[in-house]
Amino acid sequence: MSNQIILPRIMQVGEGASNEVPNVLASLGCKRPLIITDNMMVELGYAARIQECLSRHQIASDVFADTVPEPTVSSIQAGVDRVRDGDYDSIIALGGGSPIDSAKAIAILGKHGGTMRDYKFPRMVIEAGLPIVAVPTTAGTGSEVTRVTIITDETTDEKMLCMGIGFMPVAALVDYNLTLSLPSRITADTGIDALTHAIEAYVSKKANLYSDSQALSAMRLLAPNLRRAYHDGADKEAREAMMLGSTLAGVAFSNASVALVHGMSRPIGAAFHVPHGLSNAMLLPSVTQYSLPAAPKRYADCARAMGVADVQDSVEVANDKLLKELHALNDELQVPTPARFGIDRQTFFDLMPTMAEQALASGSPNNNPRVPSIDDMIAIYRQLW
Ligand SMILES: [Fe+2]
Repeated sequence: MSNQIILPRIMQVGEGASNEVPNVLASLGCKRPLIITDNMMVELGYAARIQECLSRHQIASDVFADTVPEPTVSSIQAGVDRVRDGDYDSIIALGGGSPIDSAKAIAILGKHGGTMRDYKFPRMVIEAGLPIVAVPTTAGTGSEVTRVTIITDETTDEKMLCMGIGFMPVAALVDYNLTLSLPSRITADTGIDALTHAIEAYVSKKANLYSDSQALSAMRLLAPNLRRAYHDGADKEAREAMMLGSTLAGVAFSNASVALVHGMSRPIGAAFHVPHGLSNAMLLPSVTQYSLPAAPKRYADCARAMGVADVQDSVEVANDKLLKELHALNDELQVPTPARFGIDRQTFFDLMPTMAEQALASGSPNNNPRVPSIDDMIAIYRQLW
């Protein structure tokens, strides 16, 4: 039995990696990039810095900065038009998960046409879009190393999972310097997302020896540094570990898949506009508790990799420590309950069956060590209150 592992062709990793963008483009034979980003990256001067860096190497670039958080079919349309009307040979995707996910969709639709729904899972997108050089500024969604993008259909509030080698960036420039100015809330939300990727990849039914090694390394980097980066954003050592950890977690889940947390999290995000990492954080303790009986040894490994259990601890003790840690982490990182986030209880309860159906349709719950029924998922949603 073998597993196919899909990765970017180039990974530039470490302090200052984003300055290498001209060299990376040159080695890919690209000369005319469109930078796809958001207004925050423009305000922070990150987009201008990339442009200056390119112009020093006589590379002319344009900026499309109108991507939005949790991208939708209509939010990416202007970017698709821009690519169709322009003479671009590559895309530089700069920002958190949303600009990178937007760029992936734009790269495919801009080149091959059609609508996003045409590319929805279970179709595997093998077409090559415009080559993407991903420059993440959070640690992170791992989108720079995954063959997945998530685009919401705003007419149905469905987060459409789109998958295939066509969505894999050709290069990832992983530069923790770009995360030093992240606000603590985003550090927490994206950091828990990364930790969730690592845990879910490790307990996934599609886990393999390769993804396991990446997932465990990711947990070792992420777990001890998440609190540090949250409390002191200028802690370079913690930021560096978080950045590499999130990229490795991305590699792990892209090659093993995510599971129940992500499956149940997407509908919450689509219906109530909860940031992706935050809805994951809300679900992680309850979903872990539900899933533990089906993979106690795997979860014990997670607890040990995260540094919350010792080698001598029994599986049962390690599982217990993991659950305690996940609750403690949410408390310390001030993850709100759905109520505190401002979600109306009645609306949430009314939507639970629909959200459970959407979760199931995404395919992710089937990768969970314990595969839930619709009623199981409704019971977990209810536990969040
Ligand atoms: Fe995620």
